[in-house]
Amino acid sequence: MALLFDPPQNPTYLADDVIAGVCADPGFGKYFTDHMAVANWTAEDGWENDRIVDYSPLTLDPAGAVYHYAQEIFEGLKAYRRADGSVWLFRPEANAARFRNSAVRLALPELPESDFVTSVRQLVALEERWVPSGEEQSLYLRPFMLASESFLGVRPSKRVLYSVIASPVGSYFSGGVAPVDIWVSKEYSRVATGGTGSAKCGGNYASSLLPQELAYAQGCSQVLFVDAAERRWIEELGGMNFFMITSDDQLVTPELNGNILPGVTRDSLLKVAPQLGLTPVERRVSLEEVVTGIGDGTVRELFACGTAAVITPIRSLKDDGHEYVIDVDRATRTLPLRNLLLDIQYGRVDDPFGWTQ
Ligand code: COI
Repeated sequence: MALLFDPPQNPTYLADDVIAGVCADPGFGKYFTDHMAVANWTAEDGWENDRIVDYSPLTLDPAGAVYHYAQEIFEGLKAYRRADGSVWLFRPEANAARFRNSAVRLALPELPESDFVTSVRQLVALEERWVPSGEEQSLYLRPFMLASESFLGVRPSKRVLYSVIASPVGSYFSGGVAPVDIWVSKEYSRVATGGTGSAKCGGNYASSLLPQELAYAQGCSQVLFVDAAERRWIEELGGMNFFMITSDDQLVTPELNGNILPGVTRDSLLKVAPQLGLTPVERRVSLEEVVTGIGDGTVRELFACGTAAVITPIRSLKDDGHEYVIDVDRATRTLPLRNLLLDIQYGRVDDPFGWTQ
């Protein structure tokens, strides 16, 4: 039976001026709205108990499986307020499909895509006042699913919690669209072949944290990972996909090889690229090709992308003793691409793909 995620009868909210204050300068992921969607799953009864409740701490037994074996997945998508005040989602069914795939890989139950979308829609409808209206601001939705059974044996949990929380956000990076420096991790990998690389699970992000700290120590904003086997092929950044634009107008990103998160922003950019005269290409990309191309001018632009970060231009790649710097004066395609995606998301141009809803 379809889940409904009915809202509470008499929802209560923080005072309007408090919400307005938060939305004026939300930062990223610091503030959360008044309510959250929740549903439970058990091996005996399947999905049930879907509801929207006041935002509150989750109570989990210390033996809850997620604490010990990290059986957890999540998603990230946004609701955008348009100039006319209406609020729209961007490709929620793409996130729903990826969430299902992540669930399969983490041996969690699949949440039907329509239920995922209902949970997000119901929460956004209830929390509309929390959708900010400033430039590049949005309401970031974070659906997640975790193993809640109290059991220390290593097997898939027979009890699972699903929830969606929401957070008004501005830019992911404090510098906005200012180009960032990226540290290339030679020592650590994000995932290995056959691992969980294409699933959006907390473990992938946990494994990126130490290399990310090393990146910060080098004055960089993000870490870039190459493949674990040959340490040669670019995969992705700590939490974003990697793109380059070449001098012959190709928009190139590493192909989905099972180690790379199939980003919704990544996919959207590949699809809109022809509108800007760019040819989308998915293939293997070696680090050597990129640094040589930066040197000889065949690689014109690099950027990172994701739901949270949208598109963030990359200024340089650094590793031990080297720095490869993009000539930002010649980087003319990244910002138009970014603007085109944002224009679609905020309804400022036609959406020929039917992505906004
Ligand atoms: C997103 O882009 O939505 C993510 O989940 C990545 C994370 C860096 C916030």
